[in-house]
Amino acid sequence: MSDTAGRVTAERWFRDWFGGRPEQVWLAPGRANLIGEHTDYNQGWVLPFALDLGVTVAAGRRGDGLLAIRSRQAPGAPADLPLAALAPGAVTGWAAYPAGVAWALREAGHPLAGGASLAVDSDLPQGAGLSSSAALECAAALALDGLHGLDLPRPQLATLAQHAENDFVGVPSGIMDQSASLLGRAGHALLLDCRTGVTADVPLDPAAAGLALLIFDTGARHALGDGRYAQRRSECEQAAALLGVGSLRDVTSPAEVGRLDDPVLRRRARHVVTENGRVKQAVALLTGGDLAGVGALLYASHASLRDDFEVSWPEADVAVDAAMAAGALGARMMGGGFGGSALALVPAGQRAVGAAITAEFARRGWPPPAFFPAVPSAGAFRLRPGDGDSAGRS
Ligand code: GLA
Repeated sequence: MSDTAGRVTAERWFRDWFGGRPEQVWLAPGRANLIGEHTDYNQGWVLPFALDLGVTVAAGRRGDGLLAIRSRQAPGAPADLPLAALAPGAVTGWAAYPAGVAWALREAGHPLAGGASLAVDSDLPQGAGLSSSAALECAAALALDGLHGLDLPRPQLATLAQHAENDFVGVPSGIMDQSASLLGRAGHALLLDCRTGVTADVPLDPAAAGLALLIFDTGARHALGDGRYAQRRSECEQAAALLGVGSLRDVTSPAEVGRLDDPVLRRRARHVVTENGRVKQAVALLTGGDLAGVGALLYASHASLRDDFEVSWPEADVAVDAAMAAGALGARMMGGGFGGSALALVPAGQRAVGAAITAEFARRGWPPPAFFPAVPSAGAFRLRPGDGDSAGRS
């Protein structure tokens, strides 16, 4: 984010919508994922990082038991929800994410007595695969936690936000996005072991290496709730059961997946097993100061997601191939798949990759993709009400 304008406005919108000043203002970032795709729900390893774009929630307590939510991105859809009546399926659309967090907190024994007003603003493109939903959940979770003095540890808030998304909204996502948003550290990627919950900060400073990470929003839109993501999850579970392991994380050698007769399940499992291996290789390279060396792993990840996991989409394949042909060190689709964004590792200041992708899109009559730098940034942080100050960001 280039300035604090988006952050200041959440507070201003709070005044317009609810009157008075918010008690707490929180910003939770979206995420990019360097590598480790579709490994989180297989209890494997992921290596995402927080972006400098995010969702801001300005919040205050109420006395009428309502959760009142307004979003600048959904001006015609205010939500005034009795907290006591929150139940899975009862809320649809964007408001289900913050409402789900309130529900998950209540389920965990924190009833949020009196209710809360939440004003939401965001500078994250929606549906671009940058986890705007998780950022909304995390900003709401921190605001509700702060308003009611709960002081819950961030890993627990990540789990509650995932519980909200899985069981209130009904989207079967893993824990990666919420973890990156809440636990990211500037200049680092977050290595997360999705079985144990153990994390480590891994240095990721492209500028220091004379490189840049570039996100390109392909413009194609996806929905994790459309069934294909859930189908991949279930194929992975079937493969694990047939291989006699609790999850595909326990398969350590790609050769083992050869025991699966079904060619589809064999491909799905091979992706997960090789992707876990690529995460470990990426961590070793980054720890040794070799970001450039990660480029080949990014492209191998894309090929695996395209050919074995079959979740890439035409715009991502074209963009990745154009990027590689134009001199990117690596490139791959990001997120759940079927739409959204891709990531390229390029020499700093090099414009050829963006130009080549734009030209390939134009040749096919597709709208030009949007580009922006992916800067490994701090996880969610509190803003001081009154000035939009980003003090507290580390
Ligand atoms: C989405 C989900 C994540 C993860 C990725 C794929 O972003 O929300 O939990 O499964 O897809 O890696």
